[in-house]
Amino acid sequence: MKVSVVVALCATAAAVLLLSPAAEGSHLKVGYYKKSCGNVESLVKYHVAKAIKANRGSGAALVRLIFHDCFVRGCDGSVLLDPTPENPYTEKTAPINIGLAAFEVIDEIKAAVEAHCPGTVSCADIVVYAARDAASLLSNGHVHFDPPAGRLDGVHSHAADAQRDLPDSTFTIAELIRNFRRKNFTVEELVILSGAHAVGVGHCSSLRARLTAPPTQIVPSYRSLLAGKCAAGADPVVPNNVRDEDPKAVAAAFPSFLKKLRKAKDFLDNSYYHNNLARIVTFNSDWQLLTEKEALGHVKEYAENGTLWDEDFSDALVKLSKLPMEPGSKGEIRNKCRFVNHY
Ligand code: HEM
Ligand SMILES: *[C@@H]1O[C@H](CO)[C@@H](O)[C@H](O)[C@H]1NC(C)=O
Ligand SMILES: *[C@@H]1O[C@H](CO)[C@@H](O)[C@H](O)[C@H]1NC(C)=O
Repeated sequence: MKVSVVVALCATAAAVLLLSPAAEGSHLKVGYYKKSCGNVESLVKYHVAKAIKANRGSGAALVRLIFHDCFVRGCDGSVLLDPTPENPYTEKTAPINIGLAAFEVIDEIKAAVEAHCPGTVSCADIVVYAARDAASLLSNGHVHFDPPAGRLDGVHSHAADAQRDLPDSTFTIAELIRNFRRKNFTVEELVILSGAHAVGVGHCSSLRARLTAPPTQIVPSYRSLLAGKCAAGADPVVPNNVRDEDPKAVAAAFPSFLKKLRKAKDFLDNSYYHNNLARIVTFNSDWQLLTEKEALGHVKEYAENGTLWDEDFSDALVKLSKLPMEPGSKGEIRNKCRFVNHY
């Protein structure tokens, strides 16, 4: 590209596209695109439904994506940015983001939205809408909410920020509480949001410590099942929810659980809390919720009342979706979700 062209493009970008959200969070609005892109929400939903129909795992990935976007620099699409020669260590390259997926679903939605309303809808809002639709579809509509929109896409993305702000599966309950507290989330909300682990998968490297944990922490037959599967490859993935396990593995290691296996995989409900109380969950961080009085109380509460969890999980996702960008940071409406506009 000629220098003059670059200068012209940069000038345009700086003048037109780098916006300053006054007090991000406060300007977010339900139905934000009503006038500017009236069918954006139905477009997103159509593409999320299509992706889930092809692979329910992509729904789980979208539910994780909103958490990993919003906990790092606020909900600004920073998690979507691909590494470039100028910025080779974006958030998605961080070890804590292992297994993060569904980026191509976001790309597909963005392309469809751009075709209808060019330069109007942020990738950050698409992540939120897509998570909403995924959670709703995976729960047969029991998880439902109307998230506000009007977010801008950030122009910074650093693996170190993700490592600093996202919780690790090896965390103790004190570390988990502190991590959520930093984002103004309560112990109750920590418990509510952890229920997302009813769906999706995890790498064996994320649950290594569980393979040698004592029976007070994990049911030995489930531990054997996990150990067997984890010995079968370099770093395979296993379902987060035992009821999504393959029947053969369960029959061999954990026959008492056979009757609880479900045909519909990745169904989003309060089963996480039942599994947790029975010590049949994958991550150390899940089990840790049983080790503190208040958290344990909430685990029991949500095990007892699935409707309550559906509602409170919906509310917690809305709160998550309002996490703001750092004060004073600029944003834009990205043309492509994987790159900031000056590329
Ligand atoms: C409380 C602290 C949390 C910790 C320590 C944690 C940790 C993890 C880990 C280690 C994985 C597996 C990654 C891999 O090995 O591939 C995972 C997967 C997942 N997490 Fe969390 N997580 C937490 C909270 C959340 C929250 C708040 C949500 C969403 C509301 C969430 C949604 C998910 C989903 C849906 C998956 C499965 C993703 C897929 O199958 O693609 N997690 N989490
Ligand atoms: C948490 O709340 C405090 C006090 O209201 C506020 O100053 C801070 O910005 C909030 N932090 C986040 C991450 O929203
Ligand atoms: C469960 O929670 C729902 C929603 O908050 C509430 O209406 C219902 O009364 C609760 N059920 C029980 C048995 O407590």
